[in-house]
Amino acid sequence: MVFRLLEQVRVLFRGASRQGTRSGLSGGASLPRHLAIIMDGNGRWATNRGLPREAGHRAGVESLREVVHACAELGIPYLTVYAFSTENWKRPRSEVETLMRLLVEYVRREMEQLHRHGVRVHILGRTTDLPLDVQVELDKAVHLTMHNNRITLNIALNYGGRAELVDAVRGIASKVKNHLLQPEEINAETIATHLYTAGQPDPDLLIRPAGELRISNFLLWQLAYTEFWLTDVLWPDFRREHLMDALRDYQNRERRFGALK
Ligand code: FPP
Repeated sequence: MVFRLLEQVRVLFRGASRQGTRSGLSGGASLPRHLAIIMDGNGRWATNRGLPREAGHRAGVESLREVVHACAELGIPYLTVYAFSTENWKRPRSEVETLMRLLVEYVRREMEQLHRHGVRVHILGRTTDLPLDVQVELDKAVHLTMHNNRITLNIALNYGGRAELVDAVRGIASKVKNHLLQPEEINAETIATHLYTAGQPDPDLLIRPAGELRISNFLLWQLAYTEFWLTDVLWPDFRREHLMDALRDYQNRERRFGALK
């Protein structure tokens, strides 16, 4: 109990001092509260080296590890990574199996350490369609870390922005059907609270590596006013220095949210 209280005080202090204490970041401008990343380019990274695509995904896990730790250190409280989309089932079965295996490995190997570092793991997506062993491992991770409050790591898995909106609409429709909600009471807040990210701030910054210029069905609702940072760097080559570049750039953006300055 006392320990948890101390941890909360520590988190508060970190929040207050998280600006300007790291090299190259501006002291005056704020860091994103929520960073989203499309981890793209694993396959190309491997192909460029004459390696099987699996090697690219494995190397991508290393980048993920580095970025999670950097975000925890910097005091970025929400990080969302796109690990497997509702469309990725169209890939060859062997690649899908590899990605599922890597995920289970990642969760098994990293969970204790993530837990010690105060990371709360949260899954975005239709998890009940995932293989059972993956679901079991994810459940363990989510339950182990559910009270942590340093950083929330959202892993988007069997995730699609359209599927998320469909699920939200179904949830709302069932409340209307059961007379718990009137149609005229539905507003943007109602929709936000029925998304997988309910209760979380929208992403302030989206990083998309590997030179792609698409949203790819990622966080369609939540990205409405998100700043984008695009780079040709392939995800397995993405390191802390690239994250710092993105954050510095973000700090120089002027966000108006549709208003005039
Ligand atoms: C896109 O690269 C990447 C993916 C579809 C999977 C991302 C997964 C990981 C980084 C590892 C597993 C995740 C976790 C959370 C442990 P691509 O394969 O489309 O690359 P390409 O566009 O170069 O072919």
